[in-house]
Amino acid sequence: MSHGTAAPGRARIDARTLRSDRYWLSPLLTVLGLVAWLTYATVRVFMQRDYYVGAYHYLTPFYSPCISNGCTPDSAEFGTFLPHWWFLPYAALTLPFLLLFRLTCYYYRKAYYRSFWLSPPACAVPDSHAGYSGETRFPLLGQNLHRYFFYAAVLISLINTWDAIRAFHSPQGFGFGLGNVVLVANVVLLWMYTASCHSCRHIMGGKLKHFSKHPARYKLWQQISRLNGKHMELAWTTLASLAITDFYVMAVSAGWFSDLRFIH
Ligand code: FES
Repeated sequence: MSHGTAAPGRARIDARTLRSDRYWLSPLLTVLGLVAWLTYATVRVFMQRDYYVGAYHYLTPFYSPCISNGCTPDSAEFGTFLPHWWFLPYAALTLPFLLLFRLTCYYYRKAYYRSFWLSPPACAVPDSHAGYSGETRFPLLGQNLHRYFFYAAVLISLINTWDAIRAFHSPQGFGFGLGNVVLVANVVLLWMYTASCHSCRHIMGGKLKHFSKHPARYKLWQQISRLNGKHMELAWTTLASLAITDFYVMAVSAGWFSDLRFIH
């Protein structure tokens, strides 16, 4: 029997797919984008240097909160209680939750199911696996925990917000530079991504029988739904903003260039 007729429930056609467009381009770009970002982030979180600019209190989100004994005392506002080991990131308490939040995100699931697992790579293209059990078995059953990682992400966004506020600092007192613009823009985007989460949308408007009896939640649900429509864009934009913020702090901290100051 030819390939096309083997799959149950599929029309009896011999071609693997009838799509003639470049349907493979999107999964390919997804692989390249995610691998590049993960490589950069992995290198950075294990570098254990150039993560803080003392004069302006710029702390990269990759090291926030800094809770290792290796952290510069000024950068560690929440205490240091983790041992300083080379294989333990300085923000080892929050990074796993951020990773799990993104890993179980509805958008990223779609992205890596299609691009890494080719399951399926695109609409009207067969799955490259023989069997399909959806998310009904371990480990994919764990995707259901996303709603709890959402709460962790909210807490971490609050910490990042504090970092951005605290960075309005100069050796003389209040200060404002390009680093502040970068940190604040990153935090705003992180909040938009977190608020646009499908779990957040459900918290706002889920399980209600009558929207008319809950006007405030209905209003919030409408706003979140609008943001939710941009979830994929926000997922990628925040990856970019996180990397840019980290790079900026690293560059200023390492002395590659100095911060552009508007108010000293
Ligand atoms: S669905 Fe993407 S962060 Fe929740």
